[in-house]
Amino acid sequence: MTSNNTSTSRREFLGTTPAVVAGSLAALALPSSIYAGGDDTLKVGLIGCGGRGTGAAKQALNADKYVKLWAMADAFEDRLDESLRTLSKNETIADKIEVPAERRFVGFDAYKQVIACCDVVLLCTTPHFRPLHLKAAVDAGKHIFAEKPVAVDAPGVRSVLATCLEAKKKGLSVVSGLCLRDHNGFKEVVRRLQDGAIGEIVTLQANDYRGGRWSKARQPEWSDMLYQMRNWYNFTWLSGDFNVEQHVHYLDTCAWIMKEEYPVRAVGMGGRQVLTGAEYGNIFDHFSVVYEYASGAQIFSNCRQQPRCKNDMSCLIKGTKGRAKLAEYAEGQAIRTTSDWTYSGPENDIYQTEHDRLFASIRSGKPINNGDYMAKSTLLAIMGRMAAYTGQSITWEMALNSKEDLTPASYDWKLKLPDPPVARPGETKFI
Ligand SMILES: NC(=O)c1ccc[n+]([C@@H]2O[C@H](COP(=O)([O-])OP(=O)(O)OC[C@H]3O[C@@H](n4cnc5c(N)ncnc54)[C@H](O)[C@@H]3O)[C@@H](O)[C@H]2O)c1
Repeated sequence: MTSNNTSTSRREFLGTTPAVVAGSLAALALPSSIYAGGDDTLKVGLIGCGGRGTGAAKQALNADKYVKLWAMADAFEDRLDESLRTLSKNETIADKIEVPAERRFVGFDAYKQVIACCDVVLLCTTPHFRPLHLKAAVDAGKHIFAEKPVAVDAPGVRSVLATCLEAKKKGLSVVSGLCLRDHNGFKEVVRRLQDGAIGEIVTLQANDYRGGRWSKARQPEWSDMLYQMRNWYNFTWLSGDFNVEQHVHYLDTCAWIMKEEYPVRAVGMGGRQVLTGAEYGNIFDHFSVVYEYASGAQIFSNCRQQPRCKNDMSCLIKGTKGRAKLAEYAEGQAIRTTSDWTYSGPENDIYQTEHDRLFASIRSGKPINNGDYMAKSTLLAIMGRMAAYTGQSITWEMALNSKEDLTPASYDWKLKLPDPPVARPGETKFI
């Protein structure tokens, strides 16, 4: 029997009783100095063992000397096995991996077992599940690394905001996977912009122009749920659409530059022009959204996923005294006023830095909480999707209070879940 046909965990399937490893909560209740000596092993649990989760696990293991990958969860057994195989082949971390069969969990409920037996959890599934997993982890008193985006709809964003407030009260670290904020060059440019290097900021342009995207064709034996879960990127309820899934990075960069101020309204458009086959689910392949700030400043947000087209991922900023550019390529972090300045300081591995921050915060007892910006930047992207899907002007308040809940009736592999329709501006209603 494979995990595809069941929502129970592998342990439940094997008929054993899940053993909650004692001590995780107790350890967290102890003063932070308990970790300071560095001889208490932190047990790390990976939830969502795909490409990013596998990378995040590696970075977590490299971030601290006394850390072990202790448990893993995935909706699919093959994804978990592949991830564990990849990680185990890496000589630098192999001796920090201790995930026997009884701590490998499969299915929709697998996250519960991982959270129960670990101190730190890495939330790296498909975005739809982030609010649920985040809440469960904070309820259980665990430190968290949360990949972006952190929700696909407004109820999810509201849940994440509430959960992260709770994390703050409990002294738990919540580190976001919005990794551009860990880029040395980006940090220096943003610091200068916030100090007024180009005067008052008038416009920001957030670009995420990419080529094609992956998709998985439906197999005859797959149920609706199985198909959509395997092909998750192409369904709004699972990914949020690609302007949320991917473009959130550069939208978040805009919010960061604007000192965490968010626009008051958005108007936009988008559609499916090239990626129109059934395997591309119901998401768009291009978006163009104009966001407006209370001050009159604007974000011009453009993203596209169409094969054989030019790629560009960048943020271009114009102010009253000059302009700036932020992009990840060499010399991509620059400011031009009456003179030119380009960042030339040390480069860093942004994925590693975010985990270094997380583990240092746990060891020092100084929790980091990125909850506010990771939730609000996710909403910024969702707001743009709402504007493009409906063809209406969407205010921040409308987006935040939206009642549109993309959660299916249940997480059941046998659930009837017809492919959702593609949004049609002017007809699709704001909810
Ligand atoms: N920060 C970055 O630069 C960056 C880069 C890549 C991906 N990501 C993010 O990481 C997340 C995962 O992306 P990916 O590229 O690894 O995708 P992926 O498909 O390779 O991995 C996702 C995994 O999650 C599993 N999963 C889905 N629902 C689950 C559930 N309910 N319980 C347990 N497992 C579940 C899937 O089976 C899959 O193995 C996304 O949110 C993506 O945006 C971030």
